[in-house]
Amino acid sequence: MTIQDEFLSTVSHEMRTPLTSIRGFSQTLLNSWDRIDDENKKKFIKIIEEQSNRLINLVENILTVSKNNISNIVMQKVDINSSIEKILPVVKEQHKTHNFIIIPDKKLPPALLDEDKFHQIMTNLIDNAGKYSPEGSKVIISTQLIGDTISIKVKDEGVGIKKEDFCKLFKKFSRLENHLTSKTQGNGLGLYITKQLVENMNGKIEVESEENHGSTFDIRFPVYNEEEAIKCSQKS
Ligand SMILES: Nc1ncnc2c1ncn2[C@@H]1O[C@H](COP(=O)(O)OP(=O)(O)O)[C@@H](O)[C@H]1O
Ligand SMILES: [Mg+2]
Repeated sequence: MTIQDEFLSTVSHEMRTPLTSIRGFSQTLLNSWDRIDDENKKKFIKIIEEQSNRLINLVENILTVSKNNISNIVMQKVDINSSIEKILPVVKEQHKTHNFIIIPDKKLPPALLDEDKFHQIMTNLIDNAGKYSPEGSKVIISTQLIGDTISIKVKDEGVGIKKEDFCKLFKKFSRLENHLTSKTQGNGLGLYITKQLVENMNGKIEVESEENHGSTFDIRFPVYNEEEAIKCSQKS
């Protein structure tokens, strides 16, 4: 199975569940309208609404996945600290009560990556940090040079992740059980996209977390170096 086939089969499966449910409840309502009481009618329509929303989110994420195909990565020399500054206002708009703090390594050398893709990675991580943590809590974004790699950390004070769930985190369509997943929108594609993008740009992503004690996502990218940059430009 190619990656495309695998993707199509997962997507079809994910679409079938809400569609089957929408069709089933619509048919029941149409066929037995007079025999169903108002309370149940409302319940069935609510399910149809929820399942439609699930489909809409799914389609949005699929569009993102298909736009992200590996071949259009353009590696450039990027100043990570100023790149993070650019994203922050956008994320703040979505999580108005959170307190976002940037702790930059002021002597950070440039990295070699695709800046648009880096924005998408950071947006996914910071958005999750906001979604899976209480209103008004702190999200710390820090950068640091470690040996010859650049580390970027996103730390939240949220619900955290159980050790046994670590292996599911980066899987396609996987959402974990916590009291905030049911309240927040999502379809489990964000971290899947994030990991693919990080690895396609020669980076690594790791997570440290404890249930109810927050999470830290750590991504590492190689420092910019002229020779690598030339190799990358020849490849594309
Ligand atoms: N910072 C975090 N704290 C706790 N749980 C998280 C965090 N980020 C992601 N998760 C868990 O991992 C799941 C997958 O994340 P993601 O792929 O971004 O999907 P979603 O669309 O649900 O946000 C989420 O549903 C959530 O359960
Ligand atoms: Mg997400």
